[in-house]
Amino acid sequence: MSIPKILAFAGSSRRDSFNKKLVKIAAEGARLAGAEVTYLDFKDLPMPLFDEDLEAEQGIPENVKTFKALMKAHQGLLIACPEYNSSITPLLKNAIDWASRPESGEPGLICFRDKVAVIMSTSPGALGGLRGLVHIRAILGNIGVLVLPNQKGIAKAHEAFDENGQLKDEQQQQEIHQLGNKLATVVAKLSS
Ligand code: FNR
Repeated sequence: MSIPKILAFAGSSRRDSFNKKLVKIAAEGARLAGAEVTYLDFKDLPMPLFDEDLEAEQGIPENVKTFKALMKAHQGLLIACPEYNSSITPLLKNAIDWASRPESGEPGLICFRDKVAVIMSTSPGALGGLRGLVHIRAILGNIGVLVLPNQKGIAKAHEAFDENGQLKDEQQQQEIHQLGNKLATVVAKLSS
């Protein structure tokens, strides 16, 4: 069986982002299940706000090309995204919109078709960002990503993590590890 390749990122570029911590825990779960995981921080890959005029005049920005190459090189996506006003963050939507744009000769939506994703969220609020996941699931599903039913929202993010970025609650920690494990297992099965 080939080693599943998973790209993990958060829909927040905030330095101390709770969602970055969360996705790193899931990434560890995927690694423990035998996957090769690449962690991406969008702080390191700033992209302009998508604008069709900019695209027509200047083409696809270099950082978008880098992101697209990463997407194409991995079969699975682990995504933790905060909920902004009960929906997806503009950072994540912007990255998805850019990555959906084909370069010349490329099939449409090549970054998304046949990918498998697991999504999760955390927020200081009581719902843990779950409402935003509804929108992320719909967007990714509509562009060809198989989003697994397993998901998790961790409430009270400001109290949930210890100083090492791990979840203080052992059961929550296991559940997030399990999300990574699930993605790694499904990707491995689909590629065998
Ligand atoms: C938020 N936040 C928020 N939280 C939530 O549970 N539901 C919401 O609808 C919103 N809306 C919202 C809008 C905007 C514009 C901001 C900036 C924030 C709070 C949000 O969950 C909190 O800032 C998290 O810490 C953001 O995630 P990271 O950056 O820590 O990963």
